[in-house]
Parts: sequence; structure tokens; C-alpha cells
Amino acid sequence: MESSETEHWNEYWRSGSITSFAGRFQANYEGSIAHYWADRARKFPPRGKILDMAAGNGAVAMLLAEASRRHGLALEIHAADAAEIHPPRQALNEASDPRGVRFWPACPNEATGFEDASFDVVCSQFGFEYGRSEDSLNELARILRPGCEAYLLCHHPDSIILRDAREEAGLADRALSERGLIALAKALSEKMGEHPSRASLRALADNPGAESLRQGLNQEVAALQALARSEAGQSALRQWLDSVASLFGPAVEQPLTRKHQALETLSNSIRQNRKRLADLISVAVDENRLAQYRNHPGLRLEHNGAFHEKNNRLLARELVLKRL
Ligand SMILES: C[S@@+](CC[C@H](N)C(=O)[O-])C[C@H]1O[C@@H](n2cnc3c(N)ncnc32)[C@H](O)[C@@H]1O
Repeated sequence: MESSETEHWNEYWRSGSITSFAGRFQANYEGSIAHYWADRARKFPPRGKILDMAAGNGAVAMLLAEASRRHGLALEIHAADAAEIHPPRQALNEASDPRGVRFWPACPNEATGFEDASFDVVCSQFGFEYGRSEDSLNELARILRPGCEAYLLCHHPDSIILRDAREEAGLADRALSERGLIALAKALSEKMGEHPSRASLRALADNPGAESLRQGLNQEVAALQALARSEAGQSALRQWLDSVASLFGPAVEQPLTRKHQALETLSNSIRQNRKRLADLISVAVDENRLAQYRNHPGLRLEHNGAFHEKNNRLLARELVLKRL
């Protein structure tokens, strides 16, 4: 992978998130996902060598490490990702600890650089499917020991995650559009002038151009709010609106250049997030991709199931691939 292709992920992991759903989980994954990996780990061979592929900041690897410690499994856990991952300090401190996780940044699924037949188990959550399928399957078959298995939780085209991602992508496209939230906020701050004072702002109330921009911005905010139905969409939108509102609230007397900088920062962050959503939407394992997984030489698809949250919402496709 070119470094430009991972930049949106580099930036995300630099921010210190542990999961790839920063708004949803306080720290690491909880609920059915956490249980799934803790249960899986208990069935791994003691002292086994485990790889978490496309691991991000190592959320799954850390869940496995915790289970290993709790059940005395002494697993040797590695976490690899194409991006410049930035695992939390707590995990980094454990990197040289045999009970901890060893992190491998710039380590793509398609060419990990690990030795042939060097892993007893490969795991991946919303990660294996990000690599080019044929190359990643070749790599998986190469690094797994014969008879060993890979456990993959993959994006499913009909999952709740994909539904939310499509909604959030739509919100982002609208916010970034020519007459969208950012453009309107920029136009209104320009109308307020280079160095607005309370007095000059009061005078603006009688300026029809400024008033129509203000109304346009309010209408756009209302339209975005009506479109944001999921928790993920609402939480993203809340952050954007807080940033915009601060320019017209406490920071209203700031010089124009500062406001432009703040809007630029906000639109860059929406744009990077939009790229991550585009990745996510495009990699979901549909029937075509599944056929590639099913028919790959050296591997057998042992299991293809639906993975649900406790409330029965579809979260992922659960796959088990065995190295023949
Ligand atoms: C949705 S995140 C999942 C991270 C982690 N597994 C989790 O569950 O929190 C997808 C990850 O795939 C990584 N990625 C994308 N393309 C990749 C590739 N070709 N090889 C390895 N990692 C890749 C990204 O950098 C990102 O960290």
C-alpha cells in the first residue's frame, strides 16, 4: 500500500482511539465482540503464536492478550497493520513483555514479511477484507501453519455498521458540498468581516445578505439533523455543529483568518473520515468476494455465518478459513 492510501488511517490511529468506532465504545470493544474474542482465545493452542491482521491500534490483540493472561495461555500475540499504528502507551509498555502484544506498523495484509507457516492462528476484525483479496488470501495461506485456522469478522453489506456508514457518508458529502454546512459557515463568517466587534455584529442584523445567509445556515443544520437517524450519524453531526457553533458563539470576535483555519481543520477531518467510510463501504464481503474466499487454493472455508449483537442486529460476517 502506498503511504498516501493509509494517511486517513494513520491520522485516525494517531488520535489514540482503540477501536475503529470512536463514538460507540468508551475504550476497547464491549459486548458481543469482546465476548467473541475472549471465547475464541480460550480455544487457541497454549503458547500459540497469534497474528491480528489489520489490527489498527490493537483492540482485538489486546482482548486476546487479556484472555491469555486470565486463563494462563501464554499466547504470543502480534498485531500488524498497513498504517502507522499508534497503540496506546499501556500496550506499548508491554511490547517487550511476553504476555503483551508486539505491534507491526506498515505491515500490509498482502505482504506481511512474516516467515512461511509461522502462525498457529490468524485473527482479523474488519481488517482482512481491506487488503486485495487474492494477494491477502495467498499471504494467509503462506503464513498459517498447515491445519491451522483464521478467524475473521468481516464487514457484511447488510450490517448495521454498513447502514450507519452509508448514512454518515451522505451527511459528510452534504456538509462538504458547494452549498453545504462548511461553505455556508465560511460565507457567513466572511460577511461578518475581518475583525468583527459586538457593535458591528449588531448592525449585521439589518443586512439582508447576512440575514439570508444566517437563515440558510440554520435551514441546512435542520436538514442535516433530520437526515441523521443513527447514533453514529448523530454523534458525528453533533461534533461538526459544535465546531461551527463555536465560531458564531464564544469565538465570534475572532479574526476571520482564525475562523477560516478552524473551518479548514473541520473540513479536513470530515474528508478523512469520509475516506475511511468509503473504504469500509467498498470492502464489505458480498457473495462475489465470498466466492474468492471459498475457492482459494490451500484454504478451505470452514464456516460462513452471521454475527449479531445482543439485540440481534447484524454486525458482521463471521468466517473461518482453514489452511489445508
Ligand atoms: C476498520 S479498521 C479495523 C481495525 C481493527 N481491526 C479493529 O477492529 O479495531 C481497518 C484497518 O485496516 C487497515 N488496512 C487497510 N488496508 C490494509 C491492508 N491492505 N493491509 C493491512 N491493513 C490494512 C487500516 O489501516 C485500518 O487500521
